[in-house]
Amino acid sequence: MNDIGAVIERILAWFAEKKRDLPWRDTTNPYFIWVSEVMLQQTQVDTVIPFYHRFLSRFPTVESLAEASLQEVLKTWENMGYYARARHLHTAAREIADSMDGKVPSTYEELIGLPGIGSYTASAILSFAFGKRHPAVDGNMRRVVCRLFSIQDSVDQPRTKKKILELATDMIFSADPACFNHAIMDLGATVCTPRNPSCPACPAQGACLAFEQGNQEGLPVTRKKKPIPHKHMTAGIIADETGRLLIIQRPNKRLLGGLWKFPGGFKDSKETLEQGLIRRVREELGIGIEVQEALASVEHAYTHFRITLHAFQCQWRTGKLQVLDCQDYQWSNPKDFSSFPFSKAERKIIALL
Ligand code: ADE
Repeated sequence: MNDIGAVIERILAWFAEKKRDLPWRDTTNPYFIWVSEVMLQQTQVDTVIPFYHRFLSRFPTVESLAEASLQEVLKTWENMGYYARARHLHTAAREIADSMDGKVPSTYEELIGLPGIGSYTASAILSFAFGKRHPAVDGNMRRVVCRLFSIQDSVDQPRTKKKILELATDMIFSADPACFNHAIMDLGATVCTPRNPSCPACPAQGACLAFEQGNQEGLPVTRKKKPIPHKHMTAGIIADETGRLLIIQRPNKRLLGGLWKFPGGFKDSKETLEQGLIRRVREELGIGIEVQEALASVEHAYTHFRITLHAFQCQWRTGKLQVLDCQDYQWSNPKDFSSFPFSKAERKIIALL
């Protein structure tokens, strides 16, 4: 491309006029920006906004987050999904409070060393909070750069990622870093969209090689995705004589760690749903159950697989409750469930019971 500086100027002028008014853009507080970027890693902007306000009114400083229990943090995060983000945020806040004087670090090396902060998030914090010249290469920026420079290699390859980062680093050189990153993000989110990009409205039109070649929708090139597997899971609804239900807390280091659930789990290919449920309850709690009527089934999608979760009424028949493949259990009245963090699939079951 001949004059990248002129294209960037046009993009920045477009941004000055069209920019989205987002709450984390009114601040340079590195903690606020960090929280917003972690939320935005896997959640859409419109969904993040109310969670962002709620999280920061509950935990307004790094110290308040560090002092909170993981349960409180997960509860505040409930329904946003991808709970590892909340666990990492909490662990990192404790690290910052304990050994960094409560201050979110301002160097790439320190930020990248914290749990849950990768290259993108570190660069976003450095540019938005500290005005440092780091391009925040997310999916939007990757798409914009691939199209502008007509990059035909698969963006899943490390070599291509490096090339995109180098081009973005050249581009950010002549601009205000925060404005540049926000402008490219907005361009990617509102104009240079994955499908049906609005090329006639694009400030980079005339300089975009993909547009010139009529190949904007063909870029970026990605490796073919494997089909998402589907699995069946079970949930045992076990009541005591007063109507309280047995719930258990997932081990911290596993999928949805720290969240609460009904006993049960994945069904093996060779067993029936009922057999799988009996096996899982014995593994988790050491008790024998009788599986009775099917109560409800719900569908849910995670990143790498989809599930159907089948809930069954069960009776506790043998054995003594023990904490085996879980980190805690409780008998809880369903009206008190709102004080426990549950995953979305469990919430769907609870709503149907
Ligand atoms: N996606 C990731 N970070 C973002 C930000 N700061 N503004 C808008 N969308 C984003």
